[in-house]
Amino acid sequence: MLVTGGAGFIGANFVRHTLAHHPGYSVTVVDKLTYAGNRANLAGLPEDKVSFVEGDICDAPLMDQLVRDSDLVVHFAAESHNDNSLDDPWPFVNTNIVGTYTILEAVRRHDVRLHHVSTDEVFGDLALDDPHRFTETTAYAPSSPYSATKAGSDHLVRAWIRSFGIKATVSNCSNNYGPYQHIEKFIPRQITNILSGLTPKLYGTGEQVRDWIHVDDHNTAVHLILDKGRLGETYIIGADNDHVNNKQVIELICELMGQDGYEHVADRPGHDLRYAMDSTKLREELGWAPQYTDNDTGMREGLSQTIEWYRDNEDWWRTAKDGVEKQYAKRGQ
Ligand code: NAD
Ligand code: DAU
Repeated sequence: MLVTGGAGFIGANFVRHTLAHHPGYSVTVVDKLTYAGNRANLAGLPEDKVSFVEGDICDAPLMDQLVRDSDLVVHFAAESHNDNSLDDPWPFVNTNIVGTYTILEAVRRHDVRLHHVSTDEVFGDLALDDPHRFTETTAYAPSSPYSATKAGSDHLVRAWIRSFGIKATVSNCSNNYGPYQHIEKFIPRQITNILSGLTPKLYGTGEQVRDWIHVDDHNTAVHLILDKGRLGETYIIGADNDHVNNKQVIELICELMGQDGYEHVADRPGHDLRYAMDSTKLREELGWAPQYTDNDTGMREGLSQTIEWYRDNEDWWRTAKDGVEKQYAKRGQ
């Protein structure tokens, strides 16, 4: 199995999950090690099961060779942070669109199975009181340069399926949280703020809703799609947390960490209001169900574990913290 972006948050959790639960695979990770990639995310994994190649998915000769030597490609590599895409969209266009194109051409040449990992943000956003949720047939309406480039990559995959008959599946998942997530993202930023004695930061009013899912639940879904998913199909992945807004999440983090308050900071331009996922197809066709579904917010257990992970792994995030906060300070956030 070739895993692109396997040194990033979801990719590294996916590689760990694969070794623990699907020991038949041997894995090659290809990762450019951008600011978001970290070799330490794969530390401790057996070298006879996981090999690592530092490289760019836009490098066509490299991808040709790696794809030719694989039975299956799981494609996570991307520029993934909305706020960065507002500062400089080019790396997003290059990696998310040109990189996906490069992989598509390689799997087409070598007739290798591909799973493309995408996001709910391709569908745009919903009003707070909209009864609809995103399904596999919802029209695309991305808002940010990040989500537009992910939408572009999905369109390419679908076109290569239809026009060239490549063996591929696509999944669109909602917001993930869990260990190894870069501290620029909402949940780990607040946890590491509190651990650093800084005040947690909420964009705008905090009324925005994200359909939070634990990264392990995302990765069990990806493996089910690899094992039983129908080629050519798209699967929506979501854990039914579409009633929890950012204000509730930050307040839960504060409660779990004994923190007294948080501050409101500048809102994100073009900020999507609400995402909500309908994962009926995945549940009914493939028998998937999330494991992290407890109580009111569905996040208490997963968030508690995540907080513990950041508490126990300060060496992993500490060196990046000042730089990330300086970047946010420039944006008034
Ligand atoms: P991440 O930013 O933590 O990791 C991305 C990884 O890709 C990093 O290791 C980075 O070094 C690598 N990378 C970037 N450009 C590359 C290139 N040109 N060549 C090779 N490697 C490159 O992102 P993540 O949160 O783990 O997201 C992984 C995938 O899942 C992305 O495709 C993202 O769109 C998708 N996704 C993320 C979420 C979420 O909530 N985080 C939700 C749904 C879908
Ligand atoms: O929906 C899936 C997407 O989720 C993925 O495709 C993206 O790769 C991933 O980054 C994530 O995008 P978001 O923009 O939703 O995630 P982020 O963690 O940046 O922000 C989550 C929400 O929290 C969003 O409404 C903005 C808000 N926020 C964010 C930060 C960093 C804050 O209120 N304060 C913050 O400090």
